[in-house]
Amino acid sequence: MATPAPSDVLVFFGATGDLAYKKIFPALYSMTKRGELKVPVIGVASSPWGIDELRKRAHDSIEEHGGGIDDRAAFTALTESMQYVDGDYKDDKTYAAIRDALGKAERPAHYLAIPPSLFPTVVEGLGKSGAANDARVIVEKPFGRDLASAQELNRVLHTVFPEPSIFRIDHYLGKEPVQNLLYFRFANSFLEPVWNRNYIENVQITMAENFGVAGRGKFYEEVGALRDVIQNHLLQTTAMLAMEPPVGSDPEALRDEKEKVFRAMRTLTPDDVIRGQFGGYRDEDGVDPKSDVETYAAVRVHIDSWRWEGVPFFIRAGKNLPITATEVMVEYRRPPQHVFADDEPHPEDANYMRFRLGPDRVVIALGARSKVPGETFVGEPVELYLCNQGGDEAPAYERLIGDAMEGQALLFAREDGVEQAWRVVDPILEDHGPAHHYEPKTWGPSEADKLLPEGEFWHDPEP
Ligand code: BG6
Repeated sequence: MATPAPSDVLVFFGATGDLAYKKIFPALYSMTKRGELKVPVIGVASSPWGIDELRKRAHDSIEEHGGGIDDRAAFTALTESMQYVDGDYKDDKTYAAIRDALGKAERPAHYLAIPPSLFPTVVEGLGKSGAANDARVIVEKPFGRDLASAQELNRVLHTVFPEPSIFRIDHYLGKEPVQNLLYFRFANSFLEPVWNRNYIENVQITMAENFGVAGRGKFYEEVGALRDVIQNHLLQTTAMLAMEPPVGSDPEALRDEKEKVFRAMRTLTPDDVIRGQFGGYRDEDGVDPKSDVETYAAVRVHIDSWRWEGVPFFIRAGKNLPITATEVMVEYRRPPQHVFADDEPHPEDANYMRFRLGPDRVVIALGARSKVPGETFVGEPVELYLCNQGGDEAPAYERLIGDAMEGQALLFAREDGVEQAWRVVDPILEDHGPAHHYEPKTWGPSEADKLLPEGEFWHDPEP
């Protein structure tokens, strides 16, 4: 396959916004330091700023969220290459100004770091002005807020950009440990024979955060945990765990396999979900004092495929839990007989594969039982570390912005997969039980235990 031509200018909408401040400027700075960003950068927003204010914003953002400015030359190179275009997104003049700022560039990448409600206006403006010719568009989650709105969003994007030019960021796919799930599964031969319903009892995925909504109450009221992280980050992670090996190294082959997993996921019913809300959420700024929005959600997902029939995937995510950690536990079936007297079923000692996906450390471990030295056959649980590294500091945004500008689609969510993931959660977005109360810094409402079969329990990641 021919290598796609790289984008020769980056235009980012929402230059004065939160995402730009927390993630985009630091990513652009690191990319410049590593010599990976050499093209001009155009910031676009509606605030009547000048270039100096944009540069100051970049400075403050890198100081606060990018580890500080430790390479003056790179910072100067980045900010010298910047331009700022301000204007009303509804006004054709804004796009004419962008067109001018593009200068001789022929293949822009437009990064829409703006609320999705503005996508139609901006996409149309880019299309009409000619600024979308030979361009790529990078969009951020949320891709819609249910199946219908996601389909509409995709329709709008397709009025101007063909699917291969659309790069939907789900930053979990840019994380090293998430990519390693894929690598580890398909670069080793010992796992495949036992990676199926014959050996695996169930799979649990936990995404725990030890902070609340951190000043984003208004945003969070619109989403809740199901829309914020389950439909996207955690279902994408599930697809990485459950997919078949791709046929060949073409990115589309991998995305095809992921899409098949989404298609095989059974649509959730109200019995498959437990929602929770931490005490104190309703007092947050921007939150309705009677809010029923979930800050915790646990779901039971079934994948109706030859490999996974009958293996439940239990997925949960919550704010204000005891620690911040994302972990996958793949629990194996018990041995068929109890050969040793001590080997009564210990649910907590089952064989398992544990994948800690960060943020403080990244681990792949195998849980097993081993004999304690002595005259009797008495054992203890042990963990064999296959890999144990520091935090996942590998910066997802740098990788993803770089890949999008190179036209490398592998790590981006594709239209069909996104819509299937919405299909899975769509019925439970409105039809569900109440959000159960849980105390901050606990593992969520006890009602979530009801999703699990008798004798099973949630594996809480250790600090
Ligand atoms: C975002 C969610 O997509 O992911 C946040 O909107 C969440 O609510 C964040 O905190 C988690 O990302 P990370 O990279 O910090 O695990």
